[in-house]
Formats: sequence, structure tokens, C-alpha cells
Amino acid sequence: MEEPIVVGMDIGTSKICTLVARVENGNTLRILGVGIEPSQGIRKGAVTDINLAAECIARSVEKAERTSGYEINSALVSLAGSQVSSVNSRGVVGISGRAIDQEDVYRALDSAQAVAIPHNREIIHVIQRGFIIDGQDGIRQPVGMHGFRLEVEAHIITAAASTVENLRQCVSMAGIDVTQFVLNPLAAGEVVLSETERDMGVAVVDLGGGTTDLAIYINGDVWHTNVLNVGGSHVTSDIAQGLRLPLDVAEEVKLQHGHAVLEDIGEDESFNILSFGSDQSAKVSRRELVNIIEARMEEIFTMVSQEIKRSGYDGMLPAGLVLTGGASLLPGVRKLANKVTGLPARVGKPEKIVGLTDQISSPAFATSVGLLQWAILMTETNQIVSDRSGKNGKTTRNTWDSIRVWLDKLLP
Ligand SMILES: Nc1ncnc2c1ncn2[C@@H]1O[C@H](COP(=O)(O)OP(=O)(O)OP(=O)(O)O)[C@@H](O)[C@H]1O
Ligand SMILES: [Mg+2]
Repeated sequence: MEEPIVVGMDIGTSKICTLVARVENGNTLRILGVGIEPSQGIRKGAVTDINLAAECIARSVEKAERTSGYEINSALVSLAGSQVSSVNSRGVVGISGRAIDQEDVYRALDSAQAVAIPHNREIIHVIQRGFIIDGQDGIRQPVGMHGFRLEVEAHIITAAASTVENLRQCVSMAGIDVTQFVLNPLAAGEVVLSETERDMGVAVVDLGGGTTDLAIYINGDVWHTNVLNVGGSHVTSDIAQGLRLPLDVAEEVKLQHGHAVLEDIGEDESFNILSFGSDQSAKVSRRELVNIIEARMEEIFTMVSQEIKRSGYDGMLPAGLVLTGGASLLPGVRKLANKVTGLPARVGKPEKIVGLTDQISSPAFATSVGLLQWAILMTETNQIVSDRSGKNGKTTRNTWDSIRVWLDKLLP
């Protein structure tokens, strides 16, 4: 049998990354093509300049095509931004005492989706979080069990329909069909989390350029998601303001001398920079820089902590936080995250990939590689979802097929 080729496209605030991979032995990703382009016309996960964004996407696709030798027609595409929101919902169906089959599960999921979702929103994911049969909860695989009443707890992720449509149009202007949109942290979670962490309870925190994305996994399933509108680019603009530097210099300074924890920096540490409007280089104390960075990163982790509390699952995360995304490369970030949230933290990056991995074996590419993992799941069940723009009408079989990916994968 021919090994499938999968394509993922991460459209971020800082970079657009298109990856082409061959799935070897059913689960190993051999990266064949990499197309990384600085992102333009995209802010906080939404399109701000459709032509500019489409051009960047096209360049990224072209690079990935050139390196892989494959022509790309469709891809799984990442989604983030303030336009995304999620609700938990319960669906109920009657069974009449016989054994529950897959159709019943689909019906239950269908009914969970019958929550009031405004017409200007599009459903992106419907994820099952567990089943209840005749009042008995904690059931993970209901198929084959007997009962009269099947209930499903579902996590429904929606996005503003216009945001999704604009993104889809941008990608299509670059000649690519969107196979499916995948929420940023759910893609990243696929590659940075271990089975054990998911079962124990863990939060993925994708520290990107324009957004910080959160997904909470408990008992192996996704229980809560949220996107915060703050990220590494805010750190850079704080530095630019505080040290009176152009943005590109501030970014460079952050990458070279940045750190998240002030107390770890010695009084005597310093570096030289050229300030605005002067050709003389000036000496800057590193503590001054780190003071600025720490303040913003502390704010980000405080928001993460508040969001976890708001979710109500704060006591259920023994595996703590797994940090990923470009801004998790900041030295000291783990320590600060732990200090602010009180949870254990580690940094996660794509592992177990082969081929052209030099550029992408970094936390900044967790989402990009995660999209390929999603694509594997979809080819496994051989059901590629082509279009989810069924709006709020009846869920199409395709939608359920892609959800089944989750069911099949997450259930033992
Ligand atoms: N070594 C580093 N130290 C500190 N910050 C870093 C480092 N490397 C990258 N970053 C920061 O990471 C951010 C980009 O992260 P990433 O590539 O994950 O963003 P993105 O996916 O394009 O954005 P988003 O997910 O928010 O749409 C930038 O703000 C960049 O400054
Ligand atoms: Mg990202």
C-alpha cells in the first residue's frame, strides 16, 4: 500500500509554516517539505490584509512544494484568535434497552450540538468528553453497552464565521483547499503531550507571537479551550517602548539577551545596543531588559492561571503545564510559569519526526507538526472532511467522521 502524504499549514501571527510529510509505518512522520515565511496580513489569528496574507501563504506553499517535489492542493490549517470560543454541552438520546451502536453515539453528539449557537458562528470541533448511560457517568466507550438513555458530554468549539471564511478565502487564493481547520492548541497538544499527561490532567499553553492558546486535557479528552490575545510580540513591543528601540532591534535584543526571571540576572550583566536616532552604541543593564520581559510574561501566566481557575478544573491538573510555541524558548520561562501558576511546567517540542527536521524541531513548530498528526488520524479512518461550512444546519456525516477520529483515538 502506498504511504499517504499529509500537508499541514500553520498560519500564525509571526510565521506561516507549510509542511509536507510522508506517513511511514502508519505513524512516523517523515518531513519532506518545509515552507516557512514571515507572516504578513495576519494579526492574532485573523486576516487583516487578505492579499498580503494570500501572498505569504503562496510563498510558503511554493517553498514546501519545491523542497518536497509534491504539488499541494489541500491542507489542514490552524485556527486561533479571539474569534474562537467554546462551550460544554450535553446531548441525550433514547436507546430502548438494546446495545448502543455507533449511530446512537452520533445521534447523541448531534443533540449536544443543538445548543443555541448564533448564526454568525461556525462549529469547528465537537469533542466528546465522556458518556453517561442511565445516570451512570464516567463511561468512555458506550458502544456495545445496554441502556435506555445515552448522554454525551461534549466540548464545542466555534469561531466567528466571517473570520473562518476570510481565512479560507486567503488559503484558496493561494490555490489550496482547506481540508479542515484545527484549533491551534489542539494541534500542538497532539505532539507535545504524552498519553499519561493527558490521562492525569494537563494544560497545553502555546505561547505564540500574537496569541497564547490554552487547552486542558483531563481523562484523555479535551475539556476546555481558550485563546488569549497576548503573546511574544507584546513582549517585543514593551522592550521597544521601554528601551526606545525600533521593533526589529527590540526583537533581536529579546532573542539574544532575554530572560523571564529577574532574580536570575546579575547586577553586573550588560550588553550594547544602538538606540533610536543615535549612531553611538549605548550600554544597557540586562536587569533593565529582563525587568520589562518579566512583567509582561508574568501578566501572561497570570491570565493563564485565571483562565484555568475560571474553567473550574484547576484542581485537576497534576501533570501541570506543557509550554510550547516560540515564546516558550525564552530562558527562565518554565520557572516563571511555575512561580505564577503554582503548577509544574515543562517545555514541549515536536519529537519523533524524521527527515527535514532541522528547522522545525523547536517549540515554535509544535502546531505545524501537530496538524500533520491530525492528518494522520484522518487518513487512518480514510475520511477526509472537505468542508465544514454546514453552518448551523444539520451536522453532516463528514463532521461526525472526523469526530470519530477523536473517538477512535481517545477511547481505549
Ligand atoms: N529564543 C526566543 N526567546 C524568546 N522569544 C522567542 C524566541 N524565539 C521566538 N520567540 C518569540 O516567539 C514568538 C513567535 O512564536 P510562534 O512562532 O509560536 O508564533 P506564531 O505561531 O507565528 O504566532 P501565533 O500562534 O500567536 O499566531 C515571537 O514573539 C518571538 O519573538
Ligand atoms: Mg502559533
